[in-house]
Amino acid sequence: MGVPVLDLTRQYASIRPEVEKALKEVFETQHFILGTQGQSLEQEVARHLGAAHAVGCASGTDALLLGLRALGLRRGEGVLTTSFTFFATAGAIHNAGGRPFFADIDPATFNLDAVHVRRFLEHECVRGEGGLPVHKATGCIIRVLLPVHLYGLCADMDGLNGVAKEYGLAVLEDACQAYGSTYKGRRAGALGHLAAFSFFPTKNLGGAGDGGIMTTDDGALADRLRMLRVHGSKERYIHEEIGYNSRLDEVQAAVLRVKLPHVDGWNRQRDVVARWYRQGLAGIPQVEAPSAPEGYGHIYHQYVIRAQRRDELKGFLQERGIGSMIYYPIPLHLQTCFRFLGYREGDLPHTERAAREVLALPVFAELKEAEVAEACEGIRAFYSGPR
Ligand SMILES: Cc1ncc(COP(=O)(O)O)c(C=O)c1O
Repeated sequence: MGVPVLDLTRQYASIRPEVEKALKEVFETQHFILGTQGQSLEQEVARHLGAAHAVGCASGTDALLLGLRALGLRRGEGVLTTSFTFFATAGAIHNAGGRPFFADIDPATFNLDAVHVRRFLEHECVRGEGGLPVHKATGCIIRVLLPVHLYGLCADMDGLNGVAKEYGLAVLEDACQAYGSTYKGRRAGALGHLAAFSFFPTKNLGGAGDGGIMTTDDGALADRLRMLRVHGSKERYIHEEIGYNSRLDEVQAAVLRVKLPHVDGWNRQRDVVARWYRQGLAGIPQVEAPSAPEGYGHIYHQYVIRAQRRDELKGFLQERGIGSMIYYPIPLHLQTCFRFLGYREGDLPHTERAAREVLALPVFAELKEAEVAEACEGIRAFYSGPR
């Protein structure tokens, strides 16, 4: 039969008339940038996530970039983050003028570990002006802590916010994989000073092209974000700072407004899929299935196992038509383009081990139980075969 790693046509089939109607309305107005669709989406997202403000932008990458600028990151300052994430997390730090610093992950959750964050700040930094940490080896002031809610599971925000508060750091959530994830009853996007979301089409809330949104409770930050996305201008042709062209267009907003009322239901169905996997993978000692700590609502943006002989397993599944992906095979501290940061193999052992072991299996709301069973049977067959 075969199992696709993702099939967006099934979702489209379930909402097609609504999407077509919404798109027709946009085209009839011929208003494509910063109109009523975008404004309504911002209000609806803010309400849905429990944040006071939401500001649309052109992508998740830009949401991080504008977020860092709004939080006051200055050229040459440091941002402490995880190396086990999509490239954009650190790319945005660099492009905002900052320098990424990496702390190791918690191997149980794949997310930034507050213990390692604290260790970095205590051992590798001294307190500088205003109490902010200054990295001893480079002289960089560290201004922002940037946890990523990887695969749809929130980072340990109590632990991370606690350390950030002690050191005076601003907290920017990379929630690009976590639309609807919850943490102790609150949603991702309302757990730090500012948050960045992606509406890339393969995300669990995805548009029909690139798109992103930023959320915050702070009205002054929201104003700054609104200014940054239109070239640093509040009033036309008057530029208070040098910003960007980064808007969420009306076509994207219209499609996202159709999808928004469905996203909680889709996320619940992802959880059902995860349960099918847990049952199907039980008793395979070479595989470790993901789980969420007590109080965390995982949305399984990705369903990621740890697997022995991971690359061979991937090839075996591929021969059977079962899709899988590796998110992410090379941690950011070992990427060629970040060689200048001076990291070496062995610096972040939990991150490096995860990069060798993780495998993302097919997961989407329309995935059928029989398809999950087929994927699990494939995995079982691989491990019960001759080596
Ligand atoms: C963790 C993470 N951060 C940032 C991004 C960037 O989002 P976008 O592709 O919308 O720029 C993504 C998604 O691609 C992501 O998964």
